[in-house]
Amino acid sequence: ELMRRALDNIVRNALRFSTREQTVQVDLRGTEREWLLCVTDQGPGVEKNKLSSIFDPFIRIESPQSGKGYGLGLAIARKVVMAHGGHIEADNGPHGGLTVRIFIPRWQETASQSH
Ligand SMILES: Nc1ncnc2c1ncn2[C@@H]1O[C@H](COP(=O)(O)OP(=O)(O)O)[C@@H](O)[C@H]1O
Ligand SMILES: [Mg+2]
Repeated sequence: ELMRRALDNIVRNALRFSTREQTVQVDLRGTEREWLLCVTDQGPGVEKNKLSSIFDPFIRIESPQSGKGYGLGLAIARKVVMAHGGHIEADNGPHGGLTVRIFIPRWQETASQSH
């Protein structure tokens, strides 16, 4: 449930910073060791020197698209991801837009579970 809420916030952010014509891509990939969940938008992205602070509580970057909010969504998302032993990061795409990546370790199947 907490992971669902974290993803919900990230997708809502992406939609808020998108115009009607732009797309938001949600992508899940699994490797042997972890899941990688990516949310990519085509919006303005975030200034490079502010990228790491968007995961801090109450940090919001003023812009016409900021709308209303308390700047807690990404802080909570980071807590949830870390509680699952993973990590979260954000980066601007080569042609603009923001990508938020969540890495979650996969449970190791124990011998008794696998046949
Ligand atoms: N997809 C995005 N594109 C551009 N800026 C973003 C995006 N997602 C988050 N941000 C920036 O990070 C800040 C913090 O996001 P968040 O913690 O979800 O708080 P809130 O949604 O309440 O503003 C936002 O206010 C915005 O400045
Ligand atoms: Mg938010």
